[in-house]
Amino acid sequence: MSLERKYQNVDDFAAAARKRLPRIFADYIDGGAFSETTLRRNREDFDLFALRQRCLTPLEPTPNLTVTVADRVSKLPFGPGPVGFLGLYRRNGDIAVAQAAAEAGIPFVLSTFSINGLGTVRQATGVAPDFQLYLDEDPEVNAAYLESCKANGVERIFLTVDTAITSVRERDVKNGFRSVDRLTPGLLWQFMQRPLWSLDLLIGGFPEVELVKGRAEFGRGAMAQAGNLSRRLDKNLTWDTVARLRKEWSGQLFIKGISDPEDAQRARAADVDGIVLSNHGGRQLDHGRSTVALIPEVRQALGPSLALFVDSGFRRGSDIVKALALGADFVLMGRPFAWAVAANGKVGAAHLISLLEKEIEITLNLMGLSSIDELRREGRKACFQINSNSSLHGQQYHDL
Ligand SMILES: Cc1cc2nc3c(=O)[nH]c(=O)nc-3n(C[C@H](O)[C@H](O)[C@H](O)COP(=O)(O)O)c2cc1C
Repeated sequence: MSLERKYQNVDDFAAAARKRLPRIFADYIDGGAFSETTLRRNREDFDLFALRQRCLTPLEPTPNLTVTVADRVSKLPFGPGPVGFLGLYRRNGDIAVAQAAAEAGIPFVLSTFSINGLGTVRQATGVAPDFQLYLDEDPEVNAAYLESCKANGVERIFLTVDTAITSVRERDVKNGFRSVDRLTPGLLWQFMQRPLWSLDLLIGGFPEVELVKGRAEFGRGAMAQAGNLSRRLDKNLTWDTVARLRKEWSGQLFIKGISDPEDAQRARAADVDGIVLSNHGGRQLDHGRSTVALIPEVRQALGPSLALFVDSGFRRGSDIVKALALGADFVLMGRPFAWAVAANGKVGAAHLISLLEKEIEITLNLMGLSSIDELRREGRKACFQINSNSSLHGQQYHDL
């Protein structure tokens, strides 16, 4: 079956990834914290918003989807967010997603926990990726991270602040994800059931997190390094940490993991270039609010000039259109790219990008809009919050 027929949407990639990956990794990607309520809410709340259809306007067959966010032009208003260990789900997975993004003219954010390092990704794509920074408890390690960013021409850092403590993801506990540092019989059995994935990884050899490779304190092998990286995260992150980093890093700085309007307001005073409104894809605080529902309040708190990225639960072109109408500047996506690359490597990631692009184009066409700029100008006139019980009874929308 051709790629175009096999993969119509993100769910198709998710199903294919689960068939190819050992359960321990499929569950790690898919899972959320505790009862997974935030995870579900992130998706469900898109249905609280409806888009405005317009007819009999001149049609622009290929609407202009270009956006400029914090002085950086992107051909599309979405892109892959930082996801750890892409290179474990598929050999050279980080490179594959970075190349697909570069070819589409959209940014790529490389995770601290990536298998391929900054230099390798830069060489493979010809452009320096953005870097997602997890601060380590040892300042010397952090200085080395920043050095590596500078040496590789990184212009933008996304400092993740919502994981000072790692929440419990029950699927991972059941699978022993955090404690795996050697091949147990159970794991071997899982790997044998996924021969294509196993063969692919065998060809590439023993994966390691390139950024910390050779550092004794992180151990050897991606799984041991994953455990140590998580255990060693700086647990004392405060606004002072942000201020310190702001002094040390002269490039652009974004805070990833803000999920409250008051925190967004504090970010204004922290002299950063913007924030990522994120609940880590429902992987941290259970029973938190969805990010889509928070966009209007967070935009208001942040003010009009700072960049507002948003992630957590975005799966459809229409989700992206809603976020931009509500006040976000750019959408990041985590799991969709992990699934696409696990299922089909670079071709999968590129196909995912073109599916979403098409979906956004058609959505804008049917809304009578010719560009993202026009959508932003329409704002909440283009995207209504639906009265909680009106979805059953018809058209009683009210503005936010
Ligand atoms: C498997 C996986 C690994 C992740 N690794 C990181 C990471 O290394 N750094 C980070 O800041 N966020 C990480 N995230 C969070 C994503 O950047 C993003 O906030 C989240 O996935 C967005 O939700 P979505 O998956 O529904 O798009 C990870 C998410 C997943 C699913």
